[in-house]
Amino acid sequence: MPIVGLGTFRVENNDDCKASVKHAIESGYRHIDTAMIYENEDKVGEGIAEGLASTGLKRSDLFITSKLWLADYGRNNVAAAYETSLNKLKLEYLDLYLMHWPGTDEALMIDTWQGMEDLYKDDKVKNIGVSNFNIEHLEALLAQVSIKPVINQVEFHPYLVQASLRRYLEVQNIHMESWSPLMNAQILDDDTVKAIAQEVNKSPAQVIIRWNIEHGVVVIPKSVTPSRIEENLNIFDFSLSEDHIEKLDNLDENRRIGPDPAAFNGH
Ligand SMILES: NC(=O)c1ccc[n+]([C@@H]2O[C@H](COP(=O)([O-])OP(=O)(O)OC[C@H]3O[C@@H](n4cnc5c(N)ncnc54)[C@H](OP(=O)(O)O)[C@@H]3O)[C@@H](O)[C@H]2O)c1
Repeated sequence: MPIVGLGTFRVENNDDCKASVKHAIESGYRHIDTAMIYENEDKVGEGIAEGLASTGLKRSDLFITSKLWLADYGRNNVAAAYETSLNKLKLEYLDLYLMHWPGTDEALMIDTWQGMEDLYKDDKVKNIGVSNFNIEHLEALLAQVSIKPVINQVEFHPYLVQASLRRYLEVQNIHMESWSPLMNAQILDDDTVKAIAQEVNKSPAQVIIRWNIEHGVVVIPKSVTPSRIEENLNIFDFSLSEDHIEKLDNLDENRRIGPDPAAFNGH
C-alpha cells in the first residue's frame, strides 16, 4: 500500500474532481481514497481511467480504497453496496474496502464485519479494514470475528496524536491510516509547524505529511489544486529530526475536527 494517497472528501462529483484524480496519477500518486458517502465515486472513477490512459499504467499499479456507509450496514447488505461502489468507480475490484464508522450498535458492527469477511473470502476485494474504530470497538471486534482488519483509518494530526490507539494498533499488527492529516488546513497555521517548515525548507503541509511517515502512518492529504497535489507527494527527499517529531507530538490537545467515534451513528 503506497504510504501517501490522495484524499477526495468534500470534492464535488464534477470535472474538477476527475481532473484532480487524473493529475494525481500523472504526478506519481498510486493510491486514491474515496467513499460512497462522498458522492463522487463516478468522477473519481473517470479520473482513474483517464490517469491510467495518459500514463500507460495498469489498474494493478494503483491502490484504490472506498468505504461502506452506515446506512448499508448489516451482513446481507454489504455485497450490494460494494457492487454499487464498483459500478460507480467502473472498477472490477477494490484494493481496500473499509467500514466507514463503527456506529453505536455493537451487534450490527459485528454482523457488518461478517459481510466484509464474506466479500474477502469470495475474493471480491483485496483487503478489508475499518475506519474510526476506538480500542473498545477493536477489542469487541477481535473477540468475535475470524479475520482481522488490516487497517484502521482515523483522524490523526498533531492536535490529535492518538498515542494509545497507535500503540494498540502496533501490538495488534493493524496498520494505521490518518484522515484529515492537515486538519483540513487548520494545522498549517500553527507556529511550531511553520517554524519547523522554515528549518527544513519545506512547506507546513509537507512537514505534517512527513511526520505521518516518520510515525509509519499511511496518509491521504486531500487537494484539488494541482501544485498542492504535487507538493504533498514531494516529501521523500527529507526527514524530520527526533526533536522535530517530539515538538509536533507535543502539540497534542486531544482535539478533533470530526465526530467522536464512540457516539457517531451517521446523523
Ligand atoms: N474515514 C473518515 O471518516 C474520513 C473523514 C475525513 C476525511 N477522510 C479522508 O481523508 C482525506 C483527507 O482529509 P480532509 O479532506 O478532511 O482534509 P486534509 O487533507 O487534512 O486537508 C485538506 C485541505 O487542505 C488544503 N491543502 C491540501 N494541501 C495543501 C497544501 N500543500 N498547502 C495548503 N493547503 C493544502 C486543501 O485545499 P485545496 O483542496 O483547495 O487545495 C483542503 O482545504 C479526505 O479527503 C478523505 O479521503 C476520511
